[in-house]
Amino acid sequence: MKKDRVSSSYRGFIFHLHPPKVAAASIKFNRTFGMGGMALLLFTLQLITGLLLRFAYVPTPAEAYDSILFIDQEILFGGFIRNIHYWSGIFFVIVTFLHFIRVFYSQAIFVPRRINWIIGMGLLILAILSNFTGYLLPWDQLSYWAVTVATNMLTYIPLAGEWMLSVIRGGDDVGSATLLNFYNFHTGILPIAMVLLMVWHFWKVRKAKGVAIALNEEEERVSTNPHLLLKELTIGLMLLALIFIISALFNAPLQERANPAFSPNPAKAPWYFMGIQELLLHIHPFFAFIVLPLIFFTGLIWMPYAIKEGNQGTWFHSEKGKKLAIQAAWLSLLITPLIVLLEEYVLHFEVWLPSIPKFVSEGLVPMALLLTSFGIYLGILKKRYKPTITELIIALFTVFVVSYIVLTIIGIWFRGESMKLFWPWQI
Ligand code: HEM
Repeated sequence: MKKDRVSSSYRGFIFHLHPPKVAAASIKFNRTFGMGGMALLLFTLQLITGLLLRFAYVPTPAEAYDSILFIDQEILFGGFIRNIHYWSGIFFVIVTFLHFIRVFYSQAIFVPRRINWIIGMGLLILAILSNFTGYLLPWDQLSYWAVTVATNMLTYIPLAGEWMLSVIRGGDDVGSATLLNFYNFHTGILPIAMVLLMVWHFWKVRKAKGVAIALNEEEERVSTNPHLLLKELTIGLMLLALIFIISALFNAPLQERANPAFSPNPAKAPWYFMGIQELLLHIHPFFAFIVLPLIFFTGLIWMPYAIKEGNQGTWFHSEKGKKLAIQAAWLSLLITPLIVLLEEYVLHFEVWLPSIPKFVSEGLVPMALLLTSFGIYLGILKKRYKPTITELIIALFTVFVVSYIVLTIIGIWFRGESMKLFWPWQI
């Protein structure tokens, strides 16, 4: 009798997440790659390990670093738990980003999934902020200066930037108020906001009758238990094993204690902001930090409202869309490093146009060149392939995403002292 109650409440829980039957096409691995579920598992791992770390961590500049040393060296399995927290945090950002890419390319962004697409973007931003606020907590040189560099970027926001910076830092510099702010966001506000958004997200997936499948896919339905649950269990266990192995082999970094008087050279932002830091080397901050991200995100929100011909569940919208996306990926893989090199060694608008304000020579001029190149590129695509507007946007999206990944890689591995370009193997 008792057993029956347990199994029925377990079934009740599962069937809140999934319907009793699902379309067979929707549970094929290559439909979602299980990425949403993986993100959920990684988030749960972070919650559990984070709660454990809280027992020993002290959020003050005087004690934070020592408390991390204590966790690493004195507590039984303390280092292992910290490693799991660190690695699942990195994987969480990567998997959430990949989930976002897969949702876009499988075109699951139109009604009835439109709102969920926007909720998802909120989750992506919260996932990054969550990682970023945790970055500062070890209070070592790496975390202190990465947060100093990244928060400095806020000053590029016109009018409100300086004010936002002092609110977030709780003063002029990164100090005890910043640490307390970050700690409260990291262990309270952001996880709660994410749990709320996730509940809404899952409810919306359920309301949309599960994952989007293409119109031409068969309607055959199978029972959730065991078909879907077994797959979820397998992916979940494999991911757990991977995180545990990595955490056993590689320690979360901890450099020397933070020293606000000594800035390392180069001082780099956390890896997921390196694309922006790299962009800032080439174009005026107003465009790198405000205009380009704004174009990207408003474009993605606007798309399912403006376009009615969504081909939901069909990868890349069509075969032509797929072809254009692959071409765009190759193009930006080649062109982005080329532009970085040109900009570093050849194009010096601020030197050539010394009497003109930097906003124009380093901002408007390169931006105009960039937009003109996009215009020409889209013009050529239109003439050669006669694509629909969706196929064009898919190509543009690919250019943006691949360029950002290339810029991130250059920023992390190819920038050395004073952020000059160098070959990593020449150290
Ligand atoms: C904390 C991060 C997130 C979690 C835990 C999560 C979880 C999930 C899960 C479990 C699904 C069901 C299908 C699947 O596994 O792919 C799903 C679907 C979906 N997610 Fe997420 N998600 C997250 C972030 C995002 C982001 C960043 C976006 C996009 C900006 C997004 C947009 C969507 C959409 C539109 C669907 C429906 C997809 C379809 O019908 O094919 N989610 N999500």
